[in-house]
Amino acid sequence: MANTQNTQTGILLVSFGTSYANARIAFNNIEKQVKIAFPDTEIRWAFSSAFIRKKLKSSGIQINSPEEALVKMANDGFQKIAVQSLHIIPGEEYEKLHQSVTMFNQLPDYPIIKLAPPLLYSHADLEQFSQGIHEIITPDDKKNEAFVFMGHGTNHTSNIYYPGLQYYLNQQSSQYILGTIEGYPGLPEVMTRLAKKNIKEIKLMPLMSVAGDHAQNDMAGPQPDSWKSILEKEGYQVTLSMHGLAEYNQIVAIWINHLNKIMDELEK
Ligand code: CO
Repeated sequence: MANTQNTQTGILLVSFGTSYANARIAFNNIEKQVKIAFPDTEIRWAFSSAFIRKKLKSSGIQINSPEEALVKMANDGFQKIAVQSLHIIPGEEYEKLHQSVTMFNQLPDYPIIKLAPPLLYSHADLEQFSQGIHEIITPDDKKNEAFVFMGHGTNHTSNIYYPGLQYYLNQQSSQYILGTIEGYPGLPEVMTRLAKKNIKEIKLMPLMSVAGDHAQNDMAGPQPDSWKSILEKEGYQVTLSMHGLAEYNQIVAIWINHLNKIMDELEK
């Protein structure tokens, strides 16, 4: 009984995407963890960024949009589909995905589709996330005076998750400082905090699922406007962590929680 059900149910993992081959380690790890949690369920991928899909296509890699992937899964006979948003906050990308899933669910004779929220959604998520971060940063690493996390940031209202998350991170350590490249707080606010604390040694870490383009360039790049260059110019000693959040099982566990919930709902 359980087996027949599983063959009818599929999982679709939807990420923004990355064009960085090295950043795939993070996606491979998510897939591995999802496979461990749901060994009998087929897992498929989609990238929500049209820009990334186009970029990959020009180098011969074909990745579906969430909508294309859902159509294919329907055609391939899946009757229930669990869609996991691998985005960080419920911003624009998640909103678009939510709209698509809602639309698909209105089609007659179509698979039942459930969508699980992104990494940071509920109070429990933010708590688990900051505890996970605290575990990931080893006691040896904690010799650094501060950890600066570089999130993406957005002009979408959900940007409020970033200053919100800072509150949760504060419960773990006053060493944790969060900034974003496109939202609030930004690097100027981060620098104000660092100056107030009289800090000299910093570790920079991406607050993104993969250490892709933003981590390589905006955070760690050699150009004068990267966070590393700006902070070094200000006299800070900067070390780097080039690992995406999805490389850490403590963090991936939050996505798996979300997926578990909708898989349970689908089995009802
Ligand atoms: Co971006």
